[in-house]
Amino acid sequence: MNNSKVLKVAVIGVGAMGRNHVRSYSSLHGVRLVGVADVNEKQGRKIAKSYHTRFYTRYLDLIETEKPQAVSIVVPTSLHYQVSMDCIKRGISVLVEKPLTSTIGEAKKLVCEAKKRKVVLLAGHIERYNPVIVKLQKLINSGEFGDILSIVVKRVGLYPPRISDVNVVTDLAVHDLDIICSLLGKTPSKIYARGGKVLNNKRIDHAEIFLDFNRLSCFIQVNWITPVKIRTLSITGKKGYAEIDYVAQKLDIYKSNNNTGQPAGFQEFLSKFGSPRKEQIRLKGEEPLRLELEDFIQAVLLKRPTLVTPEEGVRAVILSQAVLKSITKNKPIILKYP
Ligand SMILES: NC(=O)c1ccc[n+]([C@@H]2O[C@H](COP(=O)([O-])OP(=O)(O)OC[C@H]3O[C@@H](n4cnc5c(N)ncnc54)[C@H](O)[C@@H]3O)[C@@H](O)[C@H]2O)c1
Repeated sequence: MNNSKVLKVAVIGVGAMGRNHVRSYSSLHGVRLVGVADVNEKQGRKIAKSYHTRFYTRYLDLIETEKPQAVSIVVPTSLHYQVSMDCIKRGISVLVEKPLTSTIGEAKKLVCEAKKRKVVLLAGHIERYNPVIVKLQKLINSGEFGDILSIVVKRVGLYPPRISDVNVVTDLAVHDLDIICSLLGKTPSKIYARGGKVLNNKRIDHAEIFLDFNRLSCFIQVNWITPVKIRTLSITGKKGYAEIDYVAQKLDIYKSNNNTGQPAGFQEFLSKFGSPRKEQIRLKGEEPLRLELEDFIQAVLLKRPTLVTPEEGVRAVILSQAVLKSITKNKPIILKYP
């Protein structure tokens, strides 16, 4: 790539997730990692040394000194708004980890400011870049499953000790609220959710969420309780059924054999209903984070939109707030957005 097109990037917050951004940027063409910032000096210096870049304890010093054109913001969620705003106001494009912000008002303000300053604002909804979701989206759009009737999601596993400022809805369900709306190309009219604090009395650690899209329904189970990590999504349409495993990037598609009419006996029942046609799709295991960072960089360099729009970042915050409200008030929430 032409050297004049090399983009100066930086990472603010190099904890569990931020160090993955550092690793990915370091392996990408067309970017130069000019520095990292973290209030944890020992950890930050170690990461900076490993990746041959400069370290700052104050992110404002990093951006004023190194003048990056684009930054990844990977600090705790409660700080997303302030750090993003500080960067956007200085004309720097921002990839901020999901969720975009803690509140709807903050999310809208960030989008406004990014538009005003003509910079890229990308909320890190990483699952949208997962090759298995990209493939599923193409199949849905091509009518492979016919009209969609329902989507069921399971995103469960044990509590990660690093999480300190969020609950399971803001941290996990936000992925699925975004994915479901994106796959269907619409937003729910009503949300009803139950949840609570079972293993941790400080934050909601499980939620069961029902999304009403009028003629179709979706269900999301998220928790930090199930002793095994599961990340699956299944989709039922009039013409077929599919199951995906996000982590293994596996997609299994099932189509029924001709099942009209009453079977004459048990053998015919088995042949008609017992063995659907099955197609297994195995993807080559590309890292979603790398694909997300490539999209971000290309958007900044070529001034083109990102796969996840800023408005979709706001939508995910609106939906996760509605889920929390439904859990707290124990009643369905009618959505007025969009
Ligand atoms: N997309 C995903 O799948 C995914 C996965 C994990 C985390 N995340 C998101 O990434 C963000 C960070 O999560 P994490 O798990 O890496 O947390 P973490 O606690 O491991 O890392 C956060 C880092 O930010 C640093 N920090 C705090 N305040 C700072 C400040 N003012 N300036 C600079 N650095 C500061 C902390 O010292 C820490 O190193 C969260 O918003 C989380 O939702 C996203």
